[in-house]
Amino acid sequence: MVNRNRRLRGSNAIRDLVRETVISSNDFIYPIFAVEGENIKEEISSLPGCYHFSIDRLHEVIEEIVKCKVRGVMVFGIPDHKDEIASSAFDDNGIVQRAVRKIKKISSKLLVITDVCMCQYTSNGHCGIVVDGMVNNEKSLKYLSKIALSHAMAGSDMIAPSDMMDGRVLAIRNLLDENGYENIPIMSYSAKYCSAFYGPFREAAHSAPQFGNRKTYQMDPANSREAMKEIQDDIEEGADIVMVKPALSYLDVIRWARDRNDVPIAAYSVSGEYAMVKAGAKLGWINEKAIALEMLLSIKRAGADMIITYYALEASKWLMEGIDE
Ligand code: PBG
Repeated sequence: MVNRNRRLRGSNAIRDLVRETVISSNDFIYPIFAVEGENIKEEISSLPGCYHFSIDRLHEVIEEIVKCKVRGVMVFGIPDHKDEIASSAFDDNGIVQRAVRKIKKISSKLLVITDVCMCQYTSNGHCGIVVDGMVNNEKSLKYLSKIALSHAMAGSDMIAPSDMMDGRVLAIRNLLDENGYENIPIMSYSAKYCSAFYGPFREAAHSAPQFGNRKTYQMDPANSREAMKEIQDDIEEGADIVMVKPALSYLDVIRWARDRNDVPIAAYSVSGEYAMVKAGAKLGWINEKAIALEMLLSIKRAGADMIITYYALEASKWLMEGIDE
């Protein structure tokens, strides 16, 4: 007897009924980039369709996000001033702090997540404090928790450390709790790989390291057992949500993380993943809508509960229009 698997593929109706994975705007978080200055809405050349916004024009993108029914934003800041201790990152009047206050004023319902890292704010472009040419773990923890606290004080709904220092979730959790922010969750970039897929972001955020690379703190793309250790450590330290980043080349890591843990898993479909599809679409070689939606679906199927994606707005619009039958 032949197993007739095609019986359940015969019509749109039956395909809809047996579908195992569904994506919607409820799954997406949209990254936004706030810059100093006034009246700025400037397209990011390495991320076509994404923009640098000055604070006074943030409402344009926030209103669109709300209209697209996307639930959250990940806020990145591009400061004017960089120094060795990333002081503009924990300044109450810093770019992220002001952006958060503005966004909360525009929409009280949108979840505002803030990326906690130093690479946009240090003159050397590293994610922590450099001592004798090396990124120093313990010194970095002090500053990272200060940054997290200042984000919480500005009104951030969730803290997302992306620096990859050891012990930062615990350090941040402790300082938040001591200051009465015990209800602010931490979404940890737990399994963050040292990836070439971040290239377009570094151009967008002016955050490329000025010497060396990030291999002494970000993970080796060859390792997946180590990712499970990173995730387990972060959960023990108090992470509420753990992240795998990038997404598309790391679907095995997402699946494994999903199977081994019960906390929500976020996946960050990073700048290089987006830029490749945009470039292919521009050349007319691929069907952008179909490919982007298939990518997002595959990330969810692999086990992600939420996806940080530069396609959040477009994908939400496409999903509202309906997929071609
Ligand atoms: C900051 C940070 C990076 C990204 C998110 N937060 C860059 C990096 O670690 O080099 C990358 C996001 C993307 O590529 O879309 N550390």
